Amino acid sequence: MITRHENPIEVRRQAIQAALDAGRSDAERNRLGQFATPNALAIEIAQYVKSVTGRRLRAVRFADPAIGTGSFYSAALAVFGSGRIESAVGVELDSGFCDAARDLWAEVGLDVVHGDFTRIVASRCCPVAPNLVLANPPYVRHHHLEREDKERLQALAYRMAGITVNGLAGLYVYFLLLATAWMEDGGYAAWLIPSEFMDVNYGAALKRYLTDGVTLIRAHRFAPDDVQFGDALVSSVVLVFRKKGPPPGHVVEFTFGGTIREPQACDSIPLDQLRESRKWTVYPSHATNDRRTSSDGDGPTLGDFFRIQRGIATGSNKFFVLDRRDAERRGFPKCYLRPVLPSPRLLKTTVIEADEDSYPLIEGQLCLIDCDLPEAVLQARHPVLWEYLQTGAVLGIKDGYLVSKRSPWYRQEQRDPAPFLCTYMGRGSHEKQPFRFIWNRSQAIGTNLYLMLYPKNGLARLLRDHPDRAADVFALLGRVSGHELRGEGRVYGGGLNKIEPSELARISAAAFVDCWPELRSTLQRQGELF
Ligand SMILES: C[S@@+](CC[C@H](N)C(=O)[O-])C[C@H]1O[C@@H](n2cnc3c(N)ncnc32)[C@H](O)[C@@H]1O
Repeated sequence: MITRHENPIEVRRQAIQAALDAGRSDAERNRLGQFATPNALAIEIAQYVKSVTGRRLRAVRFADPAIGTGSFYSAALAVFGSGRIESAVGVELDSGFCDAARDLWAEVGLDVVHGDFTRIVASRCCPVAPNLVLANPPYVRHHHLEREDKERLQALAYRMAGITVNGLAGLYVYFLLLATAWMEDGGYAAWLIPSEFMDVNYGAALKRYLTDGVTLIRAHRFAPDDVQFGDALVSSVVLVFRKKGPPPGHVVEFTFGGTIREPQACDSIPLDQLRESRKWTVYPSHATNDRRTSSDGDGPTLGDFFRIQRGIATGSNKFFVLDRRDAERRGFPKCYLRPVLPSPRLLKTTVIEADEDSYPLIEGQLCLIDCDLPEAVLQARHPVLWEYLQTGAVLGIKDGYLVSKRSPWYRQEQRDPAPFLCTYMGRGSHEKQPFRFIWNRSQAIGTNLYLMLYPKNGLARLLRDHPDRAADVFALLGRVSGHELRGEGRVYGGGLNKIEPSELARISAAAFVDCWPELRSTLQRQGELF
């Protein structure tokens, strides 16, 4: 959308940006992380940075390591004024964007360098160090980085910033570390990046860098359903920091929702607290922030009472999961068919009763082919099933990544049915649980769209001695708040939440101990064992 703007170059830039975006496929744009910053947002970011720099940034030496068509340079000009900008450099890999940025901004002071920033920054021809970096780096995910490139980036981040970056980190993490290493000491930076690193293990090194290597001033996280770039499915955060060690007692302003100028919630978090926090998206703690961690790390958690495992990945649900009646009609031997739950989308109930064969008492019963007979034996004994499986071989299913690793290839991962399950992804705000807990009284197992919860320790004993208490367990799971679940899980742009077994395991289980105090003693005994 073209917004009215007084600077005619900015008006032209927006038109050129739209034309360049239209000329590239989504796949191409994803590969190079080409999602431009709306100019109004770039201006808001620049204004905020200006407000915190005070008089410390009299002469601005600007840089954007991934300049695109120059939304941030346009904002820097609008906010700081050309008179205050002593030098300005933008690096861009894509020659289309590079030419556009040069055409637009070279005459008004921007030096556009064509090339890969991660190489330029390490070379002798690296431009003059900036004291102001405004950036929206490419959000290229780690699996789109070639192995050699990733190793080069890891070695470089270690050499230039002293940080060992986890191999699961996306390109933006390297951009931030390398550009900050390049910056002048005392300079300021604002980065618009995906908020994912705030919660996941592979973000730990970046979080440590932000608490110890620089002075983090502000972290503003946009509400996940407010996707900053209409076309990029990520939720974003703006980090503003100064390249300078943090002063003692430093506190960071965490804001959430709304805009940078008018956030919905804010809080000041001491660095010491931040260093101890696994998840940063729980700040600021406020009713509008959907994410909270539930356990303080000391109390019992679901992981103390359940072994939690993701459901099975079949390699091709379409092929291995069949309508039960259809499979029986075809004459497939029952002993090689296992009941399996339908996708959560199609599961209408959260309490699954069993029929006389222990299949879920639901419409559209499904079964999973799971057979351990070698092919020759299967062909001789059960030719009908063998013939069906041959169609999978023809379709290439047999050669799929997961399937080809199994022996025989139609033998599934082995899982016992779990009495409780939790859906793996979903939506929901405020108190509403984004994931559904399911009480499974059938022998069905779940695919990887579910997490499977197997009672263990004191809870397993309790259920063995008092099977009727399963209903209470289910009720307690239903009381886990939506805030807790979102706080432990992760959120994607557009508001989709996901939760991994280790994250669900961290949810507080204090309510279980309140209900059955005898569970506490089983926990203590476990603690003593280690
Ligand atoms: C997310 S866009 C942001 C563009 C611009 N800064 C903005 O805010 O609108 C990232 C830009 O980085 C460019 N890019 C991708 N990989 C790069 C690299 N290795 N070096 C320099 N630029 C790169 C892309 O072509 C894209 O224009």
